[in-house]
Amino acid sequence: MQGPIGVFDSGYGGLTVFKEIQKKMPQYDYIYLGDNARVPYGIRSFETVYEYTKECVFKLFDLGCNLVILACNTASAKALRTIQQNDLPEGKKVLGVIRPTTESINEYTINNKVGILATQGTVLSKSYKIEINKFHPTIDVFQHACPLWVPLVENNEINSKAAHDIVEKDIQRLFSQSSEIDTIVLACTHYPLLLPVIKTYVPNHVTILSQGELVANKLMDYLKRHPEIENNCSKNSSLTFYTTDNAENFETNTTIFYGQPIKASHLEV
Ligand code: DGL
Repeated sequence: MQGPIGVFDSGYGGLTVFKEIQKKMPQYDYIYLGDNARVPYGIRSFETVYEYTKECVFKLFDLGCNLVILACNTASAKALRTIQQNDLPEGKKVLGVIRPTTESINEYTINNKVGILATQGTVLSKSYKIEINKFHPTIDVFQHACPLWVPLVENNEINSKAAHDIVEKDIQRLFSQSSEIDTIVLACTHYPLLLPVIKTYVPNHVTILSQGELVANKLMDYLKRHPEIENNCSKNSSLTFYTTDNAENFETNTTIFYGQPIKASHLEV
């Protein structure tokens, strides 16, 4: 039976990716689920991120989704592979945000020096490094974890002096690994919201990649190449938003990530 496309994140951040997916492919039905009750995932262990992500993915399957996108880098880094290998019921599919970002990274870097800015969990998993080198073994990957960036965004401190100080220091730390980096991936759902601040401290010639549009384009491609999955996606342009925490709080805080007000409901996991 056809069903909506599920989009999962640990909280609000995945809305930056979802917004682009929905813009590119408005014909599909979507269910967005944010695990706000248990955010952040970026500092949690592999086992915890896997358990939480699996629970939420299965909630989305129960709600009728046949295809679920993990719009969360930490969940994509720590849970996707295991879920794909061990847990998927027949006819269900889960995709992440790391592969779509890494497979075409060579189209952006000229000197093969790429910087990854991400949560601690994503950096420690080395998923970006592994995935990039799988496709492009000659690319040097430099990673730096920015644990304070998610709280800055969640607390709407993106234009504050603190944001400038913290971002400046983290950018310096990334470039201290190699001053030649010519491409930076913002490998966390929240970081695109800090882009104006990030640009202040990154040399002009460096390309900064946000994932939303990249992931949306790759998903569109993927659905064209996999008609058996595309045919399982219902197309009535409906949008449903769930949070594992308080729905009113979710509605109040989503505008900064999604760009427009939404109606949400609570979902127990
Ligand atoms: N969504 C997470 C990510 O992209 C950031 C927030 C969190 O730590 O849960 O890595």
